[in-house]
Amino acid sequence: MTLWQGRLPDTVPAVRLFCDSFELDRRLYAADIRGSIAYARALGRAGVLTRGEVDAIVRALERIAVEFRSGAFVAAPGDEDVHTAVERRLGELVGSELAGKLHTGRSRNDQVATDLRLWLLSEIPAIRDGLLSLGEALVAVAEEHLGLIMPGYTHLRRAQPILFSHWLMSHFWRFSRDLARLEGFTVRAAVMPLGSGALAGNPFGVDREALAAELGFEGAAENSLDAVSDRDFVAEFLFIASLTGVHLSGLAEDLVLFSSPEFGFLELDERFCTGSSLMPHKANPDPLELARGRAGTLIGALCGFLSVLKGLPTGYNRDLQEDKGALFTAVDSLALMLPLFAGIVRTVRVRPERMAAALDEEMLATELADYLVEKGVPFREAHRAVGGLVRRARELGVSLGELPQEAYREAHPAFDDGVHGVRDFARAVARRRSRGGTAPERVRGQIELAKRTLRERRGDG
Ligand code: ARG
Repeated sequence: MTLWQGRLPDTVPAVRLFCDSFELDRRLYAADIRGSIAYARALGRAGVLTRGEVDAIVRALERIAVEFRSGAFVAAPGDEDVHTAVERRLGELVGSELAGKLHTGRSRNDQVATDLRLWLLSEIPAIRDGLLSLGEALVAVAEEHLGLIMPGYTHLRRAQPILFSHWLMSHFWRFSRDLARLEGFTVRAAVMPLGSGALAGNPFGVDREALAAELGFEGAAENSLDAVSDRDFVAEFLFIASLTGVHLSGLAEDLVLFSSPEFGFLELDERFCTGSSLMPHKANPDPLELARGRAGTLIGALCGFLSVLKGLPTGYNRDLQEDKGALFTAVDSLALMLPLFAGIVRTVRVRPERMAAALDEEMLATELADYLVEKGVPFREAHRAVGGLVRRARELGVSLGELPQEAYREAHPAFDDGVHGVRDFARAVARRRSRGGTAPERVRGQIELAKRTLRERRGDG
């Protein structure tokens, strides 16, 4: 039995096979039922349903929710999607005459757009919590190891010494922006389409503001035609998820590299690694690699869904049903990856001796140039002079510290005996004390600020 049996013959099986979405969208059941309960009450207030009718519908819908939750809900052959399935079951429980009244003035177009927003809004606290946990983990490890120096890289070549905590906090700030984006998004997404009907609005005097308040929305959509076709919230969430995925993949890549025996700065807790089916000795960082890959899948979901939206004619079009697969992938991925990364970060073993061993003297070349600058030499001239020194040391096969003093004087007359004092990694780090720099007191400042914002956000949760 279909919703349109008055008008159309039975569809051929291939149409059903291709178009039905119940197996995918059944997870919207709680949102669908919440929306229907609120709509039944709104119809009651508008005088379309009697109080007794509203009560009967609400009781039956609550029972259907229990059936879904317990796994007892049995799909029927005609259940095209979750909305049809709930409506069919409601008819079985209260009679099709009363069940049929619930759809007065409502279309699946405003219904599905409402359900999807309700569902997404209900998933956001878990994602927010995951971002907070990951942020807390990064900050905790940064605080624990404050002072530890590691090589900082550009182009994946040793560049300048930085604090290990500075590297950790660089990842923290990315996720902090993701959190801010998610919070801004939550407000924009909390706009209710329900009461828009198929496209033109509701003719039964339903009070949409009251309905929106009952469902926890910030307000009701201003334009019914826009409301039924608007999936901006899906695209925006997919973008936020993609960018968070990109950030996770960047952290994953750093962790994979730094925990490789070649770097050896870190060791991953083996409970977060998986083995090889052939090589008995392996402990591989599979979760990190899979997360790095998943970022690609998330970007694909974003691009794919934007392509679905591009050029659609105004009004509901069935193309929009593609929103769910993309959104479910994004939500599920973040909900799994964020706590996993928090666990990986918290349990990582730090190897200070390996970091120290990787501090190559060439990483102090900038200090030598800055030394000349302090003597009044223009930076470009100093850069050239130290570049020559580095080349000289390489030719002789010695470190910068092993070069004879004449080599320094030859490179630039402003070099004097004081130069050797600057070849010090801790000094190089400590000098970078302007805001945002890697000096210990600045990194401590970052950590304090991060802890404060995390605490505030935990409080708001
Ligand atoms: N399953 C549909 C979707 O997800 C529900 C809306 C169907 N509306 C329609 N006019 N066929 O978009």
